[in-house]
Amino acid sequence: MNAFFENIPLFSELNTSEINAVAALATTHHFNKNNMIVQEGERGDALYIILKGSVKISSYSSDGREVILSLLEPGSFFGEMSLLDQQPRSATVTTLGDTTVLQIRRNNFEHLLLKNPSLTMKLLTEVVHRLRRTSQVLERISTMDVPHRLYNYLQDYCNRFAKQKNGQIIVRLPTHQLIADQLSTSRETISRAISALKKEGIISPISNSREVIIDTEAIDTLLFSMQ
Ligand code: CMP
Repeated sequence: MNAFFENIPLFSELNTSEINAVAALATTHHFNKNNMIVQEGERGDALYIILKGSVKISSYSSDGREVILSLLEPGSFFGEMSLLDQQPRSATVTTLGDTTVLQIRRNNFEHLLLKNPSLTMKLLTEVVHRLRRTSQVLERISTMDVPHRLYNYLQDYCNRFAKQKNGQIIVRLPTHQLIADQLSTSRETISRAISALKKEGIISPISNSREVIIDTEAIDTLLFSMQ
């Protein structure tokens, strides 16, 4: 169990006895695909850390349209906002595949924050990154056309999740629907824009794999070309 903890960025500065203390306070929970872990508007009393699987963070407009604020992968946490400001949950968190999370209850979380300044700093730094990312998304939605939003998104997504192999950038992209819901557009529009990138050889599928090779330099050129 503690090997899991050492790979979680939030706990990376903790020593073995501090990790043991966290492990003693956390419980593990499994969720199937498409299960809601946290619901917008509910009272929040726990923080979650993803051990396996992935989740989407969504908000719903008054007409029921889903806006995806972020996708989170193993090692990421969620549910900190309600614990810090005592307000209802700010968004809904739903699993995208079978997912295992660690749960830390409010009292234990507060105790950990007060006892471990390095953990508090890591949490704050990540929250600030998310604020920056959300501001950037808001800006690109209000100022860019859809293709440029997509180029910007691909660049950000590759920075976060891609791996390099033989000088190539390889990544498994979210579904077109998930990308569309993050960029406030339709799945069809995203599918058309991605097909155009494939035709130009900027996105190259890898056979028998859901991963693709992305030419991020060409994406950069497109991004800074005139809209
Ligand atoms: P909380 O409000 O407790 O429950 C929903 C969680 O979604 C929230 O804590 C954050 O962890 C996460 N969340 C909300 N808004 C964003 C956002 N804009 N970007 C990334 N994560 C978010």
